[in-house]
Amino acid sequence: MGLKLISVASEKGGVGKSTTAVTLAAHLSESGKTLLVDADERLHSAWKWTTKKEGYEGWNFDVLKYADFTEKLAGEYEYVVLDTKGGEGKSELTTLAAASKLLIIPCKPDGLSADGLVETLQPLLAGAVTNYRVLLTDVPPAPNSDGLDLRLELDAAEIPLFAHSIRHAVAVSKAAREGVRVRDVKGDRYAKLVWMDYQIVCREVVKYVG
Ligand SMILES: Nc1ncnc2c1ncn2[C@@H]1O[C@H](COP(=O)(O)OP(=O)(O)OP(=O)(O)O)[C@@H](O)[C@H]1O
Ligand SMILES: [Mg+2]
Repeated sequence: MGLKLISVASEKGGVGKSTTAVTLAAHLSESGKTLLVDADERLHSAWKWTTKKEGYEGWNFDVLKYADFTEKLAGEYEYVVLDTKGGEGKSELTTLAAASKLLIIPCKPDGLSADGLVETLQPLLAGAVTNYRVLLTDVPPAPNSDGLDLRLELDAAEIPLFAHSIRHAVAVSKAAREGVRVRDVKGDRYAKLVWMDYQIVCREVVKYVG
């Protein structure tokens, strides 16, 4: 069984990479032994989020900073999720895709992102890289149609997309602050819903990586 390395990266910062890496690792750990690797040496958001709360037993995966990660260690896991720093260059995305089974590129529909994103993805398209998918994150609720508009635009540009999107939910930042899984944020029903969004995306990921 080859290493199932799932990388989360984007040229743009603040698009939901760490949220996706942490929450996806939490879901993947239900299917197999999972390691989360935090390669953002500047912020270490994923590492901080998942090591913050003392005595919390919600995390079923291991977490490492990239400096402590070795290929030998990776062999002990079914899934390895790699969170990267913001602002990956275009060639870095291609390199990451080559090293990964699947490259996830989160994107927030802020009304401007489609053109920039299509441009960012050009090297992947030109290099005939196919093992990546864009994940729409932080999608505002109806009647706002930014998420839908972006999905249609990216689909028209033949950009591979996850079929399911991640909704906007303030529970996400609360979860990171509290150091818990988003489903464990109390008193906010959107916490469960956004957790379920990631669960659906996780099924797509598992289907993809086998
Ligand atoms: N679905 C969501 N709903 C609401 N807020 C969200 C959602 N996803 C992410 N956010 C918020 O957006 C901000 C950026 O998210 P996150 O840190 O996951 O992005 P990032 O791409 O890892 O950023 P960076 O490039 O700085 O590493 C955070 O404040 C996070 O709580
Ligand atoms: Mg991050």
